Amino acid sequence: MDNKSLVTIAEYSKEKILYMLEMAKQFEKDPNRKILEGKVVATLFFEPSTRTRLSFETAANRLGARVIGFSDPKATSSSKGETLKDTIMMVSNYADVIVMRHHLEGAARYASEVAPVPIVNAGDGANQHPSQTMLDLYSIYKTQKTLENLNIYLVGDLKYGRTVHSLLMAMRHFNPTFHFIAPEELKMPEEYKIYCKENHINYVEHTDFNEDIIADADILYMTRVQRERFTDMMEYERVKNIYILKNKMLEQTRPNLRILHPLPRVNEIAYDVDDNPKAYYFQQALNGVYARQAILCDVLGIALQDIM
Ligand code: CP
Repeated sequence: MDNKSLVTIAEYSKEKILYMLEMAKQFEKDPNRKILEGKVVATLFFEPSTRTRLSFETAANRLGARVIGFSDPKATSSSKGETLKDTIMMVSNYADVIVMRHHLEGAARYASEVAPVPIVNAGDGANQHPSQTMLDLYSIYKTQKTLENLNIYLVGDLKYGRTVHSLLMAMRHFNPTFHFIAPEELKMPEEYKIYCKENHINYVEHTDFNEDIIADADILYMTRVQRERFTDMMEYERVKNIYILKNKMLEQTRPNLRILHPLPRVNEIAYDVDDNPKAYYFQQALNGVYARQAILCDVLGIALQDIM
């Protein structure tokens, strides 16, 4: 189907990213605008979520849309064997846009091919999380005043972490230097390293995580080791607490450093970091409302000039 779905961040050009960030900025100035009155937004969450679902629903509510959906697929007819295609076709009868999270990589792409309404990928397995990337970019832009030439350190589960996969693809336009900090078991997959080479993205790999390694960071992007993606629980136990950011580690870091995390956190950021002015993860989650207001408007055909 030819619609304005957002399935992967790779679909966004540099111009489109900057345009969407400007839209998010306008919504941050005034989030309560009834420009989606009469529209219905469906949120279909086949996997658990707190921030993504609630911030999309907040975004829709603040724009005057109505929200339908589910957060527990066990309470839907998919538990009786209804296919994803049939679910999508049904919900397309009721809603103007579908925001969907699914455990299968490629589920959002498939949904976008069968749905007559736009699909917004709210995370598909270990693959992509493009709306998270837009709020990450907005957070980086707000804190660094630029997206260009930054040192971005990705820490933790780089194998299964869809947020880091999406972020590195989006940053290809802005000449970053990435530092991938992960244990052997959770290294950045080869396909993303090839992507970096093809797109002239500099990267360095590390297995150590300490004060010296992060001294030049502009952005420290911490991630959770995702228990739900492991088939071998022994392997999960071996790596789950491998990197823990402690406040003391931040003493010699750059003044402009900001710590991001898509959340939820488990153990990877000690609670004493929360009060450090370099911690930005809770504001980052708030930025998700504005970034997602921009996405909902864009897929429903509302342009920047319509909200200025
Ligand atoms: N960042 C993120 O996707 O959080 P949730 O799983 O709570 O939606």
